[in-house]
Amino acid sequence: MSTLEQVIGGIRFRSPLVIGAGPLSDRVDLIKKAADCGAGAVSIKQTAWTEPRPGVRKMCAQRGLYFFNPSDRRLNPQKTAELIRQSKEVTDIPLLANILGAGENVGTWVELGQQLEDAGADGLELNFACPNPPAKIGEGGFQYGASMSQNPAKAADVISALTKAVDIPVWVKFSGDGTNTAALCAAAAEAGASGITAFCSPRGTFPIDIYNGGRPKLADLPQCSLGGVNGPAIRLASNRVVVEAAQAAPSLPIMGGGGISCAEHVIETIMFGASLTFIFTQVMLEGFEILTRLNSEILRFMEENGYETIGQIRGQALKYIVPNSELDYAIGPAAKVNPELCRGCGTCAKIAFCRAIELRDRKAKVDPERCECCGLCASLCPTNAIYF
Ligand SMILES: Cc1cc2nc3c(=O)[nH]c(=O)nc-3n(C[C@H](O)[C@H](O)[C@H](O)COP(=O)(O)O)c2cc1C
Ligand code: SF4
Ligand code: SF4
Repeated sequence: MSTLEQVIGGIRFRSPLVIGAGPLSDRVDLIKKAADCGAGAVSIKQTAWTEPRPGVRKMCAQRGLYFFNPSDRRLNPQKTAELIRQSKEVTDIPLLANILGAGENVGTWVELGQQLEDAGADGLELNFACPNPPAKIGEGGFQYGASMSQNPAKAADVISALTKAVDIPVWVKFSGDGTNTAALCAAAAEAGASGITAFCSPRGTFPIDIYNGGRPKLADLPQCSLGGVNGPAIRLASNRVVVEAAQAAPSLPIMGGGGISCAEHVIETIMFGASLTFIFTQVMLEGFEILTRLNSEILRFMEENGYETIGQIRGQALKYIVPNSELDYAIGPAAKVNPELCRGCGTCAKIAFCRAIELRDRKAKVDPERCECCGLCASLCPTNAIYF
């Protein structure tokens, strides 16, 4: 009998699906809905040490492509403490407090962590990830989560101070922008972190109206900054960071995500080394009900493929990863087409560089002399008719 349940760092997660910190986790009704629909845990919207100016919630998305946001509201410690207390009355799933101290000022991270531990948080998630710097604050530098990811030594100071100051697990969520994953993970493990959340929102551009001089196409904004990119566009890069984290700090559990939109993506991320996965964009676009479906699809996958626990799935794909210099560059056998499956759609025959495929009698034919065995046609064929 398969189970989605895991105990990690003393916390019981009934599902590997965690709601990523953001607009889905700053109100009690949302946290309750997430729990009712089967979330394994919720990472609460970032609690910032200071709010140098009122945060505004601006965001836009293109389904299947990206979710962009240049800024968001933040919680303050009092609001989060109240949110945790109220949420604990209506649900018993673990609540992680995503915290953002004042730049490199270690004491502010510690005080935030202690306050939210006292309020009942089950774990902390240090926000070394936020790509949107709101303002410069004093000598301490920027209050800018991602800047901590780029400074493993400072990050280690914060982690080390926090792990000594609180009794709950301390996870580290980091940015993929300019981060030396191996150095950061090694520093986090050394400093006593309980886990790694990888990875968050690389910065990108906003959509523009090319018929209107390139103005931002984002709500009412007359101007816009660069901002965090999420959703499908970042999934393969997110998994790359999960792999790097798994290789650099094999002792640390990983919460992987960024771009997950279906059960297969959850399983892939676990196969690349994660124990838990976080999801934001797809829930935002489809509603919390998607969690119920994902849980039952993951469970069905496990039962059909002989996995009893998430731990048995975790890291399965890592053994296939080699350094690029060790890739086997031998040219294999030519692509073949199963005529039973080919429906003559012509997709493979349109590949611009390939001179090996043509359609004859509405069936694809491969000239083995010309095929370079690159694999592209097989990956594009809608009926899986091409094989090697
Ligand atoms: C509007 C918005 C606000 C977010 N706020 C936070 C935050 O407060 N703390 C944090 O660590 N991540 C935050 N994130 C990042 C998400 O938790 C998540 O890491 C990211 O969206 C990638 O996952 P996805 O591709 O499933 O959306 C935010 C993302 C968005 C779009
Ligand atoms: S893409 Fe697949 S189905 Fe379409 S023509 Fe090629 S082999 Fe046939
Ligand atoms: S494997 Fe590459 S070279 Fe060979 S037929 Fe397919 S697309 Fe062309």
